[in-house]
Amino acid sequence: MTPPAKGAWTRKDLLGIEELSRDEITLILDTAPQFVAVSARESGIKKVPLLQGRLVVNWFYEPSTRTRTSFELAAKRLSADTLSITASASSTVKGETLHDTLANIEAMRTDLVVIRHSYAGAAHILAQRHPSHIINAGDGRHEHPTQALLDAFTMREHIREVQQDPNAQLDGLRVAIIGDIANSRVARSNIWCLTKLGAHVTLCGPRTLIPPHIERMGVTVTTDLREAICDADVIYALRIQFERQQNCLFPSVREYIRLFRVDQESLRLAPPHALIMHPGPINRDIELAAGVADGARSVILRQVTNGVAVRMAIMHLLVNSGRGESA
Ligand code: CP
Repeated sequence: MTPPAKGAWTRKDLLGIEELSRDEITLILDTAPQFVAVSARESGIKKVPLLQGRLVVNWFYEPSTRTRTSFELAAKRLSADTLSITASASSTVKGETLHDTLANIEAMRTDLVVIRHSYAGAAHILAQRHPSHIINAGDGRHEHPTQALLDAFTMREHIREVQQDPNAQLDGLRVAIIGDIANSRVARSNIWCLTKLGAHVTLCGPRTLIPPHIERMGVTVTTDLREAICDADVIYALRIQFERQQNCLFPSVREYIRLFRVDQESLRLAPPHALIMHPGPINRDIELAAGVADGARSVILRQVTNGVAVRMAIMHLLVNSGRGESA
């Protein structure tokens, strides 16, 4: 295991991609491959002792399959002790504040807290007042930084394999993000991440699901699926977040499918090499046809596999950088 170079990572927390530099993003992506190798061990223990004796708390106020299990597995593969707190079964329901809950958890000597919350900024507020390393596992419609990092890692891994170039980067890559941009923290984190890494990002969806002035983030916007995907290297479909829409923001699901679903028919307009990605969970046959989600171009489950390694890298950098502790 390579210990982080002293001073290479200086942040206490991982709260969003917006505040990260290209070098910081690249450091995380470059730290992850050693953890891909740990998880891929055919024989022997899929564990390293980098967080031995540390306590990692998974604290989720919203449902999650991938992120929660991925963080738990990542912590276990780093040999940390883990605790899970589910909001509905905690004293939050009796009126305890976020700060009080975390102060009490910290009294049990936590090192790292992974939090998902429906309020944008929840992780930031906690990080300002509490000594634990805080990782934002999704805050409202704001950011989902670890999703964007595992996505960028998966894109880069694929490009490196195809180009047989172990140093290939994302500069010039054309990524089309399709669907419910307005409600998507994944889209926001991916836009920050991909543009910082030099990729061209095109957003596509119903006008009502695209925030006004989002072009200021350095992206191209279209409501025409054909235009979005005709030269895309990566087609990234987003889930329609019905639960976050106060009113239905498009005429009907049937209309959405007709105009924006990524399926075999629309894929005929895309380059043959275009990758299919989705953060999950998928509304099958709404934003993405089942046959495409499960097809040869899809790397959706590889995103999930890589998520564990990328989260191991993040936890390792947060806990073991610059504190005089080597791996
Ligand atoms: N991609 C993602 O965040 O999935 P979960 O909601 O299942 O964690």
